[in-house]
Amino acid sequence: MIQNTEKFPKPDFGNKRVLVVGGAGFVGSNLVHRVLEDNPREIVVVDNLLSADVSNVPNGPRVRFVASTVTDDLVLGDLPTDLDYAFHLACYHGNQSSIADPIADHDNNNITSLKLFERLKDIRSLRKVVYAAAGCAVAKKTKDEPAATSEDAPVDLFHDSPYSISKLVGEMYGNYYFRRHKMPFAKARFQNVYGPREILGAGRWRGTPHTVWRNVTPTFIFKALHKEALPLINGGEDGRDFIYVGDLVEGLTRIAAYGEPGEAYNLASGRETRIRDLAALINKLTGNPTPPDIAPPRDWDNSGRRYGDPTKSMNNLGFLARTQIEEGLRQTIDWTRSHLEVIRRCMAHHADRVPEVKNYVA
Ligand SMILES: NC(=O)c1ccc[n+]([C@@H]2O[C@H](COP(=O)([O-])OP(=O)(O)OC[C@H]3O[C@@H](n4cnc5c(N)ncnc54)[C@H](O)[C@@H]3O)[C@@H](O)[C@H]2O)c1
Repeated sequence: MIQNTEKFPKPDFGNKRVLVVGGAGFVGSNLVHRVLEDNPREIVVVDNLLSADVSNVPNGPRVRFVASTVTDDLVLGDLPTDLDYAFHLACYHGNQSSIADPIADHDNNNITSLKLFERLKDIRSLRKVVYAAAGCAVAKKTKDEPAATSEDAPVDLFHDSPYSISKLVGEMYGNYYFRRHKMPFAKARFQNVYGPREILGAGRWRGTPHTVWRNVTPTFIFKALHKEALPLINGGEDGRDFIYVGDLVEGLTRIAAYGEPGEAYNLASGRETRIRDLAALINKLTGNPTPPDIAPPRDWDNSGRRYGDPTKSMNNLGFLARTQIEEGLRQTIDWTRSHLEVIRRCMAHHADRVPEVKNYVA
């Protein structure tokens, strides 16, 4: 596939006023750094640091950081009334946390979307409100050879976690505000994002050791750098579509620039990688000689194998995930090596609850 750069030039946020809710987080902070390259008038970052570390937020005269929940009426009331773009990336991270505390998920996932959209509907200068939706919430659950999930695939009403439900509810609230109030709402359906600025242990305790370990890629990289066995849940049989955060952020900017209000767009590499192959690649790139450990399947997880169909985003946004997984992993490994201090500092906050953390932070 060839990227159509004439029809879809690189989006430019020069002199624009941009809101990033959840902008201290992994994806949000990468987006903030990207938008800053264009010299925007202002970026307003709203983040309560629930699953983020403040070191991800760049300093500078163009960044206004509001360290608060976006559900605070004062914060919502103070938002600029001349915003050009809003990106809603806040969530209660992630599946396991939401299973441990569905009410906290509701407070930091559903209510964030509802209150934010209720406020944004009145800001008429907005050209686009881009919502971080989840490809996992709409993918068919299968252990067999998967088919690519397209944007119009049917959605199951049975879900493995409150997080998954909340991600869909966010889409539905946005659709409502689009239809009823003409809020220019578009959905970015992420596959599994990996890359720099995903800080293990960032933020407050969220009920399970996944507060520390977050996702498979940063966990594997951190353990491989410590020459440890990578835990292959279900033998590493499951498969995911891994997309590098630099590509994903480009997709978000393209949805802001070219996305049709009311529409959903997959941000996907379009390729499935089995978890056992991810582990082997990370062990190779880090020189980890320790063979993986086989771990049992997770009792809540029925997701199996999946990947996203990138065709619509290619045709309608000129979006292509260019970074091959080996190159993306190299960059993530380099970033992890050079940020071990901040990672260990964030992990250390949870050492009393996750004893194995003491091995790394002592
Ligand atoms: N990373 C992935 O693979 C992936 C896949 C699918 C969807 N998503 C979605 O993308 C978005 C970003 O994910 P991420 O991986 O960067 O996670 P993240 O945890 O790093 O980012 C979420 C951010 O939201 C903030 N937040 C939580 N509650 C808030 C509140 N009430 N008010 C303000 N801020 C709040 C957190 O502190 C954090 O900075 C999320 O909405 C997530 O559901 C991510």
